[in-house]
Amino acid sequence: MERQTVIRSLTLAAFVVGISLLHYLTPLHLPYLHAIFQRLYYLPIILSALWFGLRGGLSCALAVSIVYAPHILFQWGGALTMEMEMYLEILLYNIVGGVTGFLSQRERERTVELQKTARGLEESFQKLQHQSERIIVIEEQLRRAEKLSTLGEMAAVLAHEIRNPLGSIRGTAEILKDDYKPGDPKHEFIEMQIKETERLNRVVEDFLQMARPQPAEMTPCSIQEELETITTLIANDAKARHITFVLQPPSTPVIIRADGEKLRQAFLNIIINALQATPPGGRLTVSTTRRQTEGCAPVCEISFRDTGSGIDAETLKRVFEPFYTTKEGGTGLGLVVAKKIIEGHGGRLLIESDNGKGTAVTVSLPMLEGGKR
Ligand SMILES: Nc1ncnc2c1ncn2[C@@H]1O[C@H](COP(=O)(O)OP(=O)(O)OP(=O)(O)O)[C@@H](O)[C@H]1O
Ligand SMILES: [Mg+2]
Repeated sequence: MERQTVIRSLTLAAFVVGISLLHYLTPLHLPYLHAIFQRLYYLPIILSALWFGLRGGLSCALAVSIVYAPHILFQWGGALTMEMEMYLEILLYNIVGGVTGFLSQRERERTVELQKTARGLEESFQKLQHQSERIIVIEEQLRRAEKLSTLGEMAAVLAHEIRNPLGSIRGTAEILKDDYKPGDPKHEFIEMQIKETERLNRVVEDFLQMARPQPAEMTPCSIQEELETITTLIANDAKARHITFVLQPPSTPVIIRADGEKLRQAFLNIIINALQATPPGGRLTVSTTRRQTEGCAPVCEISFRDTGSGIDAETLKRVFEPFYTTKEGGTGLGLVVAKKIIEGHGGRLLIESDNGKGTAVTVSLPMLEGGKR
């Protein structure tokens, strides 16, 4: 900016000096040339007014007057009519400098004003766009919540209707099983019947989990202890699948208010998914960290990272839909239940995946201040 001002000032000075030299050096018996040079002065005056506004126009006109006046006085002195005309021209220089400067300054101020308005409009537009995006997200959440609440009501009714006959089917199958020795094809069929009944029972249980109200028995829980309990449950499964399971302890104990049993259920669903997706030789790492953002309550983040198949973008969009599954024999409720439990604890569940490389599930939960029980 500074540099541009200097260059412009020098250009104007060069113009004025150049035109004045032409005046001083051109013999007086060539008046038509002097008349042309006289008009040439308007060029730097108008330029200065356009570049520097009112003050620029006036000061250039003044400078021209100062350098031009001695030429009139000392070189033309005597020819009164010519002299008068030239003094009049000087007056005109100043008028043109002033008016052009004033107009260009007003124009410039208006442009600045317009730019400011345009910036304000742009900001409002951005804000509006952001808000409409948020509305779309909230709408989507509402739709999902509505779906879940209808499902929940259905689940309560269904659970009652299905659970009891299911118990009887299982009971009678157990009795029938005793009539056949292992190896007998009918023994196998009855085993299958019992297994399938168990699976059906699990679906009903999952349904119920969704329908139940928020966790009522919130007690201080140590995240690490809950995770260790789960480790003992899944250790054999991980070993059989040749998957290395690593549970990294947090640097300091992380205590939260939670319903321990429900929390374990959520963690278990996430871990089972990871084990199912990870091929032999893979790895599942679970770690807990604290996170404190300014102005927010402290949260703990439990991350479950597997080196499994990962999830493609299309599937990732649907993993929280009830009954969405890519597994043969899957019910597609594991993550729905886990999410509901975590959100019931005021937390959030986030899934990120690098398709083909692995998946990271992050659960963030509000912490008890100071980590005390
Ligand atoms: N760690 C993971 N790696 C790869 N895919 C995953 C992972 N976790 C979830 N998924 C995908 O998300 C889908 C939904 O998972 P969810 O646990 O809700 O149901 P499911 O495992 O299919 O059935 P279930 O109800 O028996 O758990 C899975 O079918 C799978 O495609
Ligand atoms: Mg699952």
